[in-house]
Amino acid sequence: MSSEAEHSLADFYFPEDNSALEAPASFSEWLEKGAWAVQLFEPQMLGAVRPRMTIERAGKRTEVVNLSSYNYLGLATHPEVVGAAIRALQEYGTGACGSPLLSGLSNLHRELERKLAEFTGREACMLFNSGFAGSMGSLAGVLRKGDAAIVDSKVHLSILDGVKLAKAKLVFFNHNDPDSLDQALKASEGRRRLVVVEGVYSMDGDTADLPRLLPVAEQHGVGVFIDEAHSILVYGDHGRGVLEHYDVEARVPVQFATFSKSFASCGGYTAGPAGLIRYIRYYSNPYGFSCALPPATVAGILKALEVATRDNSLRERVWDNTNYFREQALGLGLNLGESTSQVMPIIIGSDRQALYELCSEMNDKGLFLAPVDYPSVPEDGLRYRVAVTAAHTREDLDRALQILEDVVVPHVRG
Ligand SMILES: Cc1ncc(COP(=O)(O)O)c(C=O)c1O
Repeated sequence: MSSEAEHSLADFYFPEDNSALEAPASFSEWLEKGAWAVQLFEPQMLGAVRPRMTIERAGKRTEVVNLSSYNYLGLATHPEVVGAAIRALQEYGTGACGSPLLSGLSNLHRELERKLAEFTGREACMLFNSGFAGSMGSLAGVLRKGDAAIVDSKVHLSILDGVKLAKAKLVFFNHNDPDSLDQALKASEGRRRLVVVEGVYSMDGDTADLPRLLPVAEQHGVGVFIDEAHSILVYGDHGRGVLEHYDVEARVPVQFATFSKSFASCGGYTAGPAGLIRYIRYYSNPYGFSCALPPATVAGILKALEVATRDNSLRERVWDNTNYFREQALGLGLNLGESTSQVMPIIIGSDRQALYELCSEMNDKGLFLAPVDYPSVPEDGLRYRVAVTAAHTREDLDRALQILEDVVVPHVRG
């Protein structure tokens, strides 16, 4: 292994230098030495997000099959969605130019709040200008110092940052483990508490085991907050996420989801009881002190909601593609971890050098996957993350599988 491959981002968090306005010298040196691998990050997408597109990495343009976008239903380029956003852009201009509390809410924002409340079967809904700000801001809006957030060990950073921002105690339970949740709840008795899970876990593609976790939370009389970023519009007969999938909507009063995945846009929403949503509006700083979503973005999301829920065709297509890809990839001997969804890790192990080299080779051959390194995932679970969408054709998926077979399979078979 090369010397730079022995390190990860986790090694440069605490800088050796005194100045907060200079990057640590050791970090810069490490990045420069591993420049060929760093080039795999922050590629440029040349044009709209589509199953086949051109990307540019380090000045080199490649035609790729894109297995890295969250455009699960393929709505990013849907003519009705794009048309609605264009019309709103012409009518409302480029920005909201104000925070939602003071001057940023248009009638389109209000309409989206109403439509989402109706869709999720909740009394009320509020919008955030980013998914990250939404989950962080919702939690920071309701948790306080002295409270405890009992969170699944695999939740997204936005949740952890929300708990930290609230200065509440962060208590982890082992991923999807009801016994571990029970212990964490027993150990935190006496505090105001909230259990936090995700619909589909973003790095592993499995779902929250709600049928086993919910009874434990209920036994302790503790509520559950769910982040359905990757599951909304994909799971459930009507697309209402894993809460609908597991038929537990009435038992989980608050649902958060982002617009950056199946809605093919940007932002997020929290839906729940009217009194609570009204309270969060006033106590969530990322909501009250940050500009509202651009109206044209809201118009696109409104249309995406309509298209995605008018029938089941896009959901059926994403699941057909997901089932096909999973079966073929497992047939090749690839390690997809515990994934049961359209999000599938391809786990490589701890060989960081191989993670980057194979990624680069796949890129050159025409498959766009990104390397996922520690500390985002465990050190022995370095991976690529596949996102299958409704927009992929069988040809796209077969081409991607062929490249995986040529490049990754020989490595994993040793
Ligand atoms: C579970 C989860 N929550 C929140 C976010 C943040 O969402 P956004 O990218 O829309 O800011 C992500 C991002 O991928 C996520 O996976």
